[in-house]
Amino acid sequence: MKFFIDTGNLAQIKEANELGILDGVTTNPSLMAKEGIKGEEAIAAHYKAICDLVDGDISAEVLSTEFSAMVEEGKKLAAIHPNIVVKVPMIKDGIKAIKWFTDNGIRTNCTLVFSAGQAILAAKAGATYVSPFIGRIDDSGWDGMELIGQMRHIYDIQGFKTEILAASIRNALHIIKAAEAGADVCTCPLDSILGLLKHPLTDIGLAKFLEDAKKM
Ligand code: G3P
Repeated sequence: MKFFIDTGNLAQIKEANELGILDGVTTNPSLMAKEGIKGEEAIAAHYKAICDLVDGDISAEVLSTEFSAMVEEGKKLAAIHPNIVVKVPMIKDGIKAIKWFTDNGIRTNCTLVFSAGQAILAAKAGATYVSPFIGRIDDSGWDGMELIGQMRHIYDIQGFKTEILAASIRNALHIIKAAEAGADVCTCPLDSILGLLKHPLTDIGLAKFLEDAKKM
């Protein structure tokens, strides 16, 4: 399973990248706004800065919701760096735009996916990645992980090549469960990635080893 970090924060991206286990970055308009990035030039410069930090796929989301505007915006985003993946919302014009990008050699990440039907459409349009929002499904009283399992099953029996990118990850258990369910990629906040490190017996064991090392 590939590991992406889900943030627009350069310091967090750098910290995760220094672990040596990072395969890419996902952003969205909310995450970019959180970093105070405003205006077309600043947005492009920020994506370029992320691409310079991480040698992996970097999702940059279109802000338009109409087909022609999405295509124009996506072309500009893709021109920033070869590692840019154009993130497109799961709407009717979004599916048309994903098909256009697929036919024109631009890689895509279909975002805001909450059902198997949406996942089938994204795959049919040729999306490189599809992003089911696990945490938000859980928030609404359903089981986000069930959707990952269902998508894995459908994609496998149908031979769809689209990669399942588990998004809206909220904790370390989500990452473990997404791996178990067969997600190809997990995009996570830094805290959730670091959460995988934690176990009290590791801390207790290390303290004892360091104490005993003084007797060596
Ligand atoms: O990037 C999309 C997704 O990961 C958002 O997560 O926590 O806002 O539901 P969240």
